Amino acid sequence: MCGIFAYTGKKNSTSILLDGLTSLEYRGYDSAGIFIPGSGSIKSVGAVNNLKKKITKTIQGTSGIAHLRWATHGEPTEINAHPHHDCTENIWLVHNGIIENYKELKEKLSALGHTFKSSTDTEVLAHLIEHHLHKTKDFEKAVIATLNEVTGTYGIAVAHNTDPDKIIAARNGAPVVIGIGNNENFVASDPTPILRHTKNVIYLHDGEVAVITPESHHIYNLNSILIERQKETIDWDVEQVKKDGYEHFMLKEIMQGPEVIENTIRGRLIIEEGTAKLGGLEMVTDKLRSIKRIVIVGCGTAYYAGLVGEYMLEEYAGIPVEVEVGSEFRYRKPIMDEHTALLAISQSGETADTLEAIREAKRKGALTLGIVNTVGSTIARETDAGIYNHAGPEIGVASTKAFISQLTALSLFTLFLGRQRTMSQSTGKQIAEEIKLLPEKIKSILAQKETIRKIAEKYSNSRDFLFIGRKYNYPIAFEGALKLKEVSYIHAEGYGAGEMKHGPLAMIDENFPTLAIAPLDSVYEKMISNIQEIKARKGKIVVITTEKNTQIKDMAEDIIYIPETLEVLSPLLTIVPLQLFAYYFARKKGLDVDRPRNLAKSVTVE
Ligand code: M6R
Repeated sequence: MCGIFAYTGKKNSTSILLDGLTSLEYRGYDSAGIFIPGSGSIKSVGAVNNLKKKITKTIQGTSGIAHLRWATHGEPTEINAHPHHDCTENIWLVHNGIIENYKELKEKLSALGHTFKSSTDTEVLAHLIEHHLHKTKDFEKAVIATLNEVTGTYGIAVAHNTDPDKIIAARNGAPVVIGIGNNENFVASDPTPILRHTKNVIYLHDGEVAVITPESHHIYNLNSILIERQKETIDWDVEQVKKDGYEHFMLKEIMQGPEVIENTIRGRLIIEEGTAKLGGLEMVTDKLRSIKRIVIVGCGTAYYAGLVGEYMLEEYAGIPVEVEVGSEFRYRKPIMDEHTALLAISQSGETADTLEAIREAKRKGALTLGIVNTVGSTIARETDAGIYNHAGPEIGVASTKAFISQLTALSLFTLFLGRQRTMSQSTGKQIAEEIKLLPEKIKSILAQKETIRKIAEKYSNSRDFLFIGRKYNYPIAFEGALKLKEVSYIHAEGYGAGEMKHGPLAMIDENFPTLAIAPLDSVYEKMISNIQEIKARKGKIVVITTEKNTQIKDMAEDIIYIPETLEVLSPLLTIVPLQLFAYYFARKKGLDVDRPRNLAKSVTVE
């Protein structure tokens, strides 16, 4: 969703604010804007580069607030771009989230004589602060009084022309991180833009307000009570948020697959015992023994990882598993009790629908677990226990390395839970040994990237694409289709190959290609039947199969080979060519793969 960033210190704030926005750009690119107290504001429609072109030397100072917009209320125009201000143009504010009662507040403030310029929900906050400031004569008190009147979600940073060193930030349902530097402090939606300045951060909790100046930071609740909070150190490195010579983050992150698996399993695989040591689950180890059912919740790619997890856990840990998207779970009446564990999967750790599912499960007495990449994120904090991915920051909007890491974490969790239950040591050992080999096997797939590029380019004029798979690769068909549609904007559909005859086969003709995921596994023969059915309807077929498979040559237009592995781990290999396929397909169409239209990296509104 939107990205906010703010700085107060001794340095020239213009370049710091623009750099901050550049490294947050995956959060929104409908419009961008900055405000520097005592100097003014500049806004532009589109990405940060458009804003940079408009910056003049006259806008300067040593503090400021900045924003990237992913439009919810109001068109992506310059008028609707943040920062927004009050009637006096002294109070300026940036916001991520949705103010639900903005209409009532706007009516009330309009009746009091306030005039509004934009059609955003955010602007009411600036005017409401003005209203309270008029009464209290105290900037902090005015912000807190305002927040006590609003309902909805917000991560905000507020600045005032007459108090230029002070930035006030607050959070409710949208992430806010405070960066603690040396004679300088920061506010951001996530740690990425702060990393280059400091690794010391404080994550605000819901209902908290931070008041920062270059030399100080104080945190209050909405009753103005001071809160003691220790700073944390982020273990991400600034180098990790650079492209490292790659044209796009998406390609860099796909190529990071092998090291991502190594980082996810480091110190966790106990091969001799055929299990995994998961420190983050230690305090709930006994409780996990008595769990009778697991409900996995996630959105988008994380949901598809959950579907693979369902097959892994049911087969090897012998526990019933259901998987659901967060946006459905939160609005129906799910049956949860103390014998159920809810496992939330999320790269960002901030996805609103997943977070609400956790809260709902907690209310019903379930144990909540997380597989989360972003350390200190809301989901990581609100779940009872969990597994960190250690995949490093993922910047490309299309999730690639996080998916590989989520599957790896799920296989570790399967070993852990399986060995607590029915799995034999020898089966556990066989899986653990194979997990260890995955990075090398992925490297051999990545080495074929030129072949995959040529295949993707050959099909890049297609308007439709079908992805089919079975069993462990059934969810991979969905994830392959999601990758292609989000970066190339074409119609791509994932289907269980066994379902073809029940409808989708009707779409097939010479202009509707299919990508079949058919490694040599227990459902291979069934996949071959489905491939034949498509071929008989003149459908063109690209197949992903295992290296030693020589039989498939006559059936497919194009073939991508992957190394042999255990069936349960095959999704970790089959997804890699699909990620490359989507990347090169979109590149050939000249699209900006790191910033697909209409999407943002972290979905903090429902
Ligand atoms: O941060 P999360 O893992 O919770 O995000 C979930 C989805 O929004 C995310 O996977 C989305 O589907 C990606 N754009 C897919 O590439």
